Amino acid sequence: MPHPYQIRTFEEYKTAYQKSITDPDGFWAEVAGHFLWRRKWDKVLEWNFTEPRVEWFRGGKLNITENCLDRHIAHKADQPAILWEPNSPDEHNRTLSYKKLLEKVCQFAHVLKNNGVKKGDRVCIYMGMIPELAIAVLACARIGAIHSVVFGGFSAQSIADRLADAQAAFIVTCDGAYRGAKDIPLKSVIDDALIGNSTVKCVIVCTRTRTPVSMLKGRDLWWEEEMKRVEEQGLHFIEAEEMDAEDPLFILYTSGSTGKPKGVVHTCGGYMIWANYTFINVFQYQPGQIHFCTADIGWITGHTYILYGPLSAGATSLMFEGIPTWPDAGRFWDIIDKYKVNIFYTAPTAIRSLMGFGTAPLQGKSLSSLQVLGTVGEPINEEAWHWYDEHVGKKKCPIIDTWWQTETGGCLISNFAGVTPAVPGWATLPMPGLQMVLVDENGKEVVAEGDETVSGNLCIKAPWPAILRTTYGDHERCRTNYFATYSGMYFTGDGALRDKNGFYRITGRVDDVLNVSGHRIGTAEVENAINMHAGVIESAVVGYPHEIKGQGIYAYVIYSGNPTHEEELVRKDILQTVSRIIGAIAKPDKIQFVTGLPKTRSGKIMRRILRKIAEGETANLGDTSTLLDPGVVEEIKNGKV
Ligand code: WTA
Repeated sequence: MPHPYQIRTFEEYKTAYQKSITDPDGFWAEVAGHFLWRRKWDKVLEWNFTEPRVEWFRGGKLNITENCLDRHIAHKADQPAILWEPNSPDEHNRTLSYKKLLEKVCQFAHVLKNNGVKKGDRVCIYMGMIPELAIAVLACARIGAIHSVVFGGFSAQSIADRLADAQAAFIVTCDGAYRGAKDIPLKSVIDDALIGNSTVKCVIVCTRTRTPVSMLKGRDLWWEEEMKRVEEQGLHFIEAEEMDAEDPLFILYTSGSTGKPKGVVHTCGGYMIWANYTFINVFQYQPGQIHFCTADIGWITGHTYILYGPLSAGATSLMFEGIPTWPDAGRFWDIIDKYKVNIFYTAPTAIRSLMGFGTAPLQGKSLSSLQVLGTVGEPINEEAWHWYDEHVGKKKCPIIDTWWQTETGGCLISNFAGVTPAVPGWATLPMPGLQMVLVDENGKEVVAEGDETVSGNLCIKAPWPAILRTTYGDHERCRTNYFATYSGMYFTGDGALRDKNGFYRITGRVDDVLNVSGHRIGTAEVENAINMHAGVIESAVVGYPHEIKGQGIYAYVIYSGNPTHEEELVRKDILQTVSRIIGAIAKPDKIQFVTGLPKTRSGKIMRRILRKIAEGETANLGDTSTLLDPGVVEEIKNGKV
């Protein structure tokens, strides 16, 4: 039986899109009607972008875990919900059927309750990619606690900032995590994050690497012991908490143009529908398929396309603990063959990095189970696209290029696999419900004349179900960040082209946000971290094209005294400081010591010039006459690293 809201032809897409624009309420009510609701909504959509205020399915009551777990039990209790592949191919893999996953989620939900977690409480989750991470996330959702997953690569300081911002009293973590040849001591990072913290009452520690950890009496508990206690108490099923459609489901921190990460808030109803709708349509999921999204659950991609999208659709989702290049660069291909993966979703940076190993790691791998390939996180260059198509998809798998953001909850622009046209490097068409516009710097809509391709800043005129509702604890920040640049529109921060067919090509961020290996990093955040290093007077950070990472981080640093003798040492110290303050992912690739930065008379750093120099374009720097000291530009040009 065809899926009730799966679009199967280009014509159907056009019809659905049309209907979603002329009658959004009717369109989304029909989709929402296919989910489990405890109480039906009173109103499909209420919104204004001035406050901003967006409410989808007001008055509707539900729990997302009933939609992701309970409703599949009748038909597919024994079907795998999660297949787990460990870091090392020598270790046993694990399978959690829908029945087993529901049991474990209930059991851990009891653990949370036993330890005082209540509806609305924020729970910070800092774990490696093991099934317990999925269980912890879903257990929070089960009892209405708000999960905030923090990627395992973030430093103690970053965690401390997020804990404080979310006012979280509970943490779920692991002793350590395996990533390739490394063993990351997660609990010890948490311990550092908790120095001086008085709001966290309870830390639950799941065993993975069994690295020695310190367990603080009265605060720290072992996952395994707490699970056992629940068993001994004879507790099993737990009734899902009834949530309002607009109650928060999770907070996920992301970078913006200012130094402080933003807690993007998604809600139970709209997010669920969007995760599911886009999973079914963009990936063209067919029952029985094995879906493999290589993202970490610490990022939005993992939330939506490892957990909530696939599980709400009753799919089998493969979760991988390790990295693509360990023990060798054939790891992904082995996994695909081992589990007969049908849908494979990864980032352009991973493709480029694997491309660098040539085709040898693909030798002897069948990959014949693959049906759909996808990419996410950054623009994909054509070379990588064709390599993916030829060597991985063997030219028989449609490639979806999915553009979206933490704030959008799920895909907003993408082709539908095998259904709507694919163009290398182009994300192509918006999802139903999406009214995309390109505007110029003054907010004026860019309209094409005839067949020309136009470019502009990408904005959206009306809400879709999974638009962020607020930034946690600071609604004004949400307004100024997303809804104030261009009045009456959500501004994405990205630039884009649109061709005569209405296809979009994302050209990259137009704000001060970098995209390094598909990870969002604000330049201001990196600058703040560098400036904390003793001896640093000022710094300016820009992106530059990087063969594998997409963008690399280039830092110009004014250092007190003379770093020339120990330049290398000082560089390393600065890198260490950035690792400490943010995490290794934010370490600059290049550091250039300078004696001054190009500034306007009003003291603003002219990043345009710094960006050009970092990109290696020194001949044509544009107008430098407004600079306070044009001489500094020469010095910077000559000292380029
Ligand atoms: C970029 C990741 C080009 C974009 C889901 C966006 C992309 C930022 C694509 C969001 C794509 C994401 N093509 N660029 N297919 N997908 N981006 O919040 O700049 O980690 O604004 O969400 O990644 O990153 P985030």
